[in-house]
Amino acid sequence: MKVFSLDSKDECSKIGANIILDELEKNKNLVLGLATGSTPELMYNYIIDNFKKRNLSFKDVKTFNLDEYVGLKPNYEDQSYRNFMNTCLFNQIDIDKNNTHFPVSYKEINVQNNYDSYDKLIDENGGIDIQILGIGNNGHIAFNEPGSELESKTRLIELTESTIKANSRFFDNINDVPKKAVTMGINSIFNAKKIILLAFGENKREAVEKLINAKSFDKNWPCTSLYNHEDLTILTDIQF
Ligand code: GLP
Repeated sequence: MKVFSLDSKDECSKIGANIILDELEKNKNLVLGLATGSTPELMYNYIIDNFKKRNLSFKDVKTFNLDEYVGLKPNYEDQSYRNFMNTCLFNQIDIDKNNTHFPVSYKEINVQNNYDSYDKLIDENGGIDIQILGIGNNGHIAFNEPGSELESKTRLIELTESTIKANSRFFDNINDVPKKAVTMGINSIFNAKKIILLAFGENKREAVEKLINAKSFDKNWPCTSLYNHEDLTILTDIQF
C-alpha cells in the first residue's frame, strides 16, 4: 500500500488523473472501475481537461461503475449514478456509452438478489485494470456497508442509516434517499489489478486510519479488506 498525504485535494486529483492517463497512453483498451460521490469529481475534471492535450482517446475504453441506487423516485433521476457519470465524465470525453456499465439500471423495477452476472462481464472483459474508489465515513467502499463479507460479489444491499444520512445532502428530504442499492462486492473490488483510493476531509480520517493500520480484515470497517492488496494507492489530503 502506498499512502500519499498531500496538501490539497487538487493535488491528489491531479495525480489520480495522471495515473489513469498514463495507463491509457500504454493501453488504449483500458478497463476502468469508476466511483461516484463528490470525491472523484475533481479528478474527472482533470481527465476531461487533459486527455485531448495528451492526444489520448477513450473510444476503446470500457468502464464498470461500482454501484447504483435502486428505487430512485422519478423526480430524482438526476441523482442516479448513471446520470452523475454522464454529466461529470462520459458526456465530456469521447467514450462510447455502450462501453459504460452499471450493475443495475436505476429504472429497474424487478430487482433480483443476485447480480453476479456483472462480475462475469467484468471477467469476460479481462478484469478491471484501475479501480477508482472513494470511502464512506463508516469505512464503506462502493456500497459495501459494515458487515459485508470479504468474499462478497455484486449484489443488492440495504443502505445503513449512516449512509442514508450522508447521502441525504443530495435530496430535498431524507425520506427520498433510496434505501437500497446494487453494489460491486468486496471481492469484486479486490480483484482489480490496481486500486486508487481518494479520501478528502477530516470526516474520513477514522476510516482511512483503519485501513492504513489494518493487519487483517475487520468486518466493521469494509475498507480494511484492501489492507493486503498488491497495488493500492491512497491519495488523501488528511495529514497522518
Ligand atoms: C457513496 C458511494 C461511494 C462513495 C461514498 C463517499 O456512498 N456509494 O462509492 O465512496 O458515497 O462519498 P463522497 O465522495 O461524496 O464523500
